[in-house]
Amino acid sequence: MLSTRIISILVLFSSVVIVKSKDPQNPVRYDNFALYRVWPKNGPSTIKEVFKGGLILSQPNIQSPSYDILIPPQNQLAFESELRTIQWSFESLNQNVQEIIDEERLISWINLQAGGTYSWNRYQSYKEIVDWMQGLPNQYPGVVTLFNIGKSYEGRDTFVVKLSRRANNPAIFLEAGIHAREWITIATSTWIFNQLLTSTDPDVVALALKYDWYLLPVGNPDGYVYTQTDRLWRKNRKPFLLSPLLPQCNGVDLNRNWNYHWRETDLILGILPSTSPCDETYPGSSAMSEIETKNLDNFIKTYATQTKLYISFHSYSQVLLWPEGHTATRITEYNNYEKIGNETVEAIKVRYGTEYERGSIYEVMYAASGSTVDYMRGVRGIPLAFCFELRPGRDATMGFVLDPSQIIPTSEETFDGIQAMIGEASVLGYL
Ligand SMILES: *[C@@H]1O[C@H](CO)[C@@H](O)[C@H](O)[C@H]1NC(C)=O
Ligand SMILES: [Zn+2]
Repeated sequence: MLSTRIISILVLFSSVVIVKSKDPQNPVRYDNFALYRVWPKNGPSTIKEVFKGGLILSQPNIQSPSYDILIPPQNQLAFESELRTIQWSFESLNQNVQEIIDEERLISWINLQAGGTYSWNRYQSYKEIVDWMQGLPNQYPGVVTLFNIGKSYEGRDTFVVKLSRRANNPAIFLEAGIHAREWITIATSTWIFNQLLTSTDPDVVALALKYDWYLLPVGNPDGYVYTQTDRLWRKNRKPFLLSPLLPQCNGVDLNRNWNYHWRETDLILGILPSTSPCDETYPGSSAMSEIETKNLDNFIKTYATQTKLYISFHSYSQVLLWPEGHTATRITEYNNYEKIGNETVEAIKVRYGTEYERGSIYEVMYAASGSTVDYMRGVRGIPLAFCFELRPGRDATMGFVLDPSQIIPTSEETFDGIQAMIGEASVLGYL
């Protein structure tokens, strides 16, 4: 196992052959890239070698033992023949994923032409979201405050808005867009915040009075802007030139960079890092190495100190997760988390029948350390920290690309879940 993994490190640098365009005028295209679902046989140690040249979109977890991976056209024959040789079963789900991306873009564009105003019938650009946030303090004077929490690696301002209708409220923090391609998280979080501002539903009005609400809708501005060029980009955009002989790789996974058991699930025998900057889950050169991570942490510890519930939005697979990600050992308050989790997923199901799994990150997804929720609970002492993996379900084809017509239904059911979460958390004395 060890030797295979060391080999996988050696092949790693030569393994990323998807050439990433750096020119925003010239988007990365996925013409004739095929999406495969693969059921591995002999453990994760050989995965990198078998999958070299591909882009892993999802990994096995308790809901599903398979990988989803994109393979460029020129590698497909070799990939399939390799899988046959090692007798891993696989299925080809789509022969040209660019069509799925184009469809989402087209619908967004049509709605943009039709509406022109800020709406949740389409996905919004970073600039539109920032304009919307900057307008809120004037629209809701004395209620909404805008914070610039600092610049991203590429120099983009990063904004948080706060809604407060009463002094000394406990606070709820909504964080989204840490992973750039998870567009639905950004749209859902802004929809919920807008409901808190505009809804006349007495339950929602009460929530907006009783709690302060913080929203960070785009936690990874550079990555989000870059998804206009490469729709499937996940990390931030910090460049790493490992050697003049090798292609430059970009990006740190901002949901692996936090200083709580940092990189623990990413070490071979507890020593060697198993990921490089070319990998999708590269946790950074050190804990909190990224400016986006530091900006958010500084804001939380300086301004959002009354936060009692921290909610992190990701996509996809319809699961509700809670700490911790690096170990199977359950946190002491696990039973309370499970009670709250049960109420939340039941409430999500009521409106459209959407089914969620729930449990700790380690149990339900896979071993992963350095996430925001683990850090906010483990280091910042926020008593409740949950992560939603929004629609679609685990079986979706190209789940990061979600039709804009699903933004509002996703947002509605998620807000139903959050209301139930707050209800149960109050019963248990957290809020
Ligand atoms: C949560 O729901 C599951 C499945 O319905 C149940 O077995 C479990 O006892 C519930 N947990 C708590 C803490 O209520
Ligand atoms: Zn994510």
